[in-house]
Amino acid sequence: MMGDLEDLLEKAESDLRASQTQDDILAVRTKYMGRKGLLTALLRNITAVPQDERAQFGKRGNEIKETLSGWIEAALTEAGARRKDDVLLKQKLDATLPGRRTRYGRIHPVTQVRKEICDIFSGLGFTIVDGPEVELEYYNFEALNIPADHPARDMQATFYIDDGIVLRTHTSPVQVRRMEQMRPPVRIICPGRVYRHDSDVSHTPMFHQVEGLLVDRGITFGDLKGILTYFLKEVFGPDTALRFRPSFFPFTEPSAEVDIQCMLCRGKGCRVCGQSGWIEILGSGMVDPAVFKYVDYDPEEVSGFAFGLGIDRIALLKYGISDLRLLFENDWRFLAQF
Ligand code: DAH
Repeated sequence: MMGDLEDLLEKAESDLRASQTQDDILAVRTKYMGRKGLLTALLRNITAVPQDERAQFGKRGNEIKETLSGWIEAALTEAGARRKDDVLLKQKLDATLPGRRTRYGRIHPVTQVRKEICDIFSGLGFTIVDGPEVELEYYNFEALNIPADHPARDMQATFYIDDGIVLRTHTSPVQVRRMEQMRPPVRIICPGRVYRHDSDVSHTPMFHQVEGLLVDRGITFGDLKGILTYFLKEVFGPDTALRFRPSFFPFTEPSAEVDIQCMLCRGKGCRVCGQSGWIEILGSGMVDPAVFKYVDYDPEEVSGFAFGLGIDRIALLKYGISDLRLLFENDWRFLAQF
């Protein structure tokens, strides 16, 4: 019986020598040491060994098992290394080829402009606040003095979610929400997404606005002019000419729209400014006393001004982009330019 053990070790050794790949070696392992392997069977059959040889048989059996395991491990490691060498030899590596560059992400032009606007107003003591994009009709229209039958509700082709619930058509409702929450003085800036049913080169169903509001005792139209002039010169450069034009918004009285001189033609008139030399940049005005009534502010005691502007439009003007829709296609070849 002891002889069987030694024979087996010898056979296993020659099988291993004949093995090339890791699969061959694993097959040898199964053949001898698997659950139905030759060595396993032999060791299990110890009862057939005469009593006085059993102890020695068991001892030698275990030694052989260990030896064989060691050989197999070593053979597997060696075969693994051989395989790696083979792969490397087969791959013809050209170390002179240029490397592949990782593309860095960039900050979206709309985000860049939004941050710039917020930074300027933060510097003037304004707080940045947020409001819901799915908004109550009450805040989007009613409390801004736009009653149910007002034509402004038509003008802003509105996405209705449900009865009384809309996708906000502007960031102005944040004014009302904020004033409901606090007493004056209020000095806020509210950037965010807004939605209107509109789509062409200069309109997308979703776009971005910033709303601003300042309410305190003794705020005048002079404050509005001063702050908006400072702001626009920060964004478009100190030499930018501005003009304040009378306008109308239901939530401000008096109201003004602000134009900047066209930066492309410097006021001479071109395609971008529709030959007028001016580009409309924001809406503004003194907060209408009717709006103060909705939030329980006393118009005899406080006054304020508000303004709203489109972030995307400013991005187009600043970077000379001709189609608004490019901003939302997320084509990296376009975005990588900013
Ligand atoms: N909400 C207006 C719009 O979406 C913009 C606007 C105009 C906001 C005048 C104001 C304002 O706060 O005073 O067209």
